[in-house]
Amino acid sequence: MGGKIFKPCFWDTTRPIEEKLNFENPLVEIGFGKGDFALWLAQRFFDQPVLAVDKWHPGVKALIHKCLGKGYKNLFVFNLDAHLFVDYLLKTNSVRAFFFNYPDPFFKKRDIRRRLLKTSFLRKLALKLQEGGKVYIRTDIEDYYLYILEQLQPLKKIFEIRKGFDLDLPTTKYEQKALREGRKPLKLLLIKLKTPEGVTDKEVEPLRTVRVERYSPSQLEVGKEFKDAKRGYFFKVENFYRGEKIDLVEIYVGEEGFYQQVFVGIFKTKSGEVILKPKSFAVGVKSLSWAVEELSKLVGG
Ligand SMILES: C[S@@+](CC[C@H](N)C(=O)[O-])C[C@H]1O[C@@H](n2cnc3c(N)ncnc32)[C@H](O)[C@@H]1O
Repeated sequence: MGGKIFKPCFWDTTRPIEEKLNFENPLVEIGFGKGDFALWLAQRFFDQPVLAVDKWHPGVKALIHKCLGKGYKNLFVFNLDAHLFVDYLLKTNSVRAFFFNYPDPFFKKRDIRRRLLKTSFLRKLALKLQEGGKVYIRTDIEDYYLYILEQLQPLKKIFEIRKGFDLDLPTTKYEQKALREGRKPLKLLLIKLKTPEGVTDKEVEPLRTVRVERYSPSQLEVGKEFKDAKRGYFFKVENFYRGEKIDLVEIYVGEEGFYQQVFVGIFKTKSGEVILKPKSFAVGVKSLSWAVEELSKLVGG
């Protein structure tokens, strides 16, 4: 069960991911915030894997802190964007349930496209769910609630849509805030009826390691951004760390819809070659291979 790479409550930051996660019937919480609901899920469903995903690093640290040393065996925490996680790391027809508690509503008109629960993403959830699998959604924002219902219109044959559910779920930080401010929780339950057509699974690939003839780090400019407009790839050099045996370049690399933070190590092998290799918790996707290649051109003189 993913044992090689993952320990409960933890991800091994030295290991890249080059294959889909091998969990049976996982329960997945997306956007866990401070993580208390994920902890509840892991306790309540102690014999099933619970995968908790958030792109907000302080929340990830908080959740790991809360569960380390407490003996959880079934909670796995991921610091990733939901698009990357769902697209690349979940197997098709595998997930038993997704939970979305108070996802960011992005009120402003120009930001609405950033909402997670739109047709394209909901279709991907359906691909990853097993038959009869469920999506539990709670939001306190009526406008978002109506938006989700509208986005579900093209998916009426894919999901049975219920405006509420009986499963008694605990409150969350955001729910408490909403209640204090006088807003009521609104609930949606989606039950998968069939696998959608026209949405293909994305495969993880081996991470690219590149050798360079010469190494001149002076070309590395922190803050510099690179784009491949044709493929929609981008990356930014966030930081550069010099070490005794290895230098690290911290980059943000992404494709349309998501990005990941990756550390690329630059080091000398025993035979004297200089190698660039993604070192940290990184997901093997084409945009990352491209970024490593571009970096190698930069530092390879
Ligand atoms: C409004 S908070 C709700 C937090 C928590 N579920 C609660 O109810 O207290 C939304 C959370 O979703 C996370 N989030 C938003 N977009 C995301 C994405 N694309 N991928 C992963 N997490 C995301 C945010 O970082 C934030 O922690």
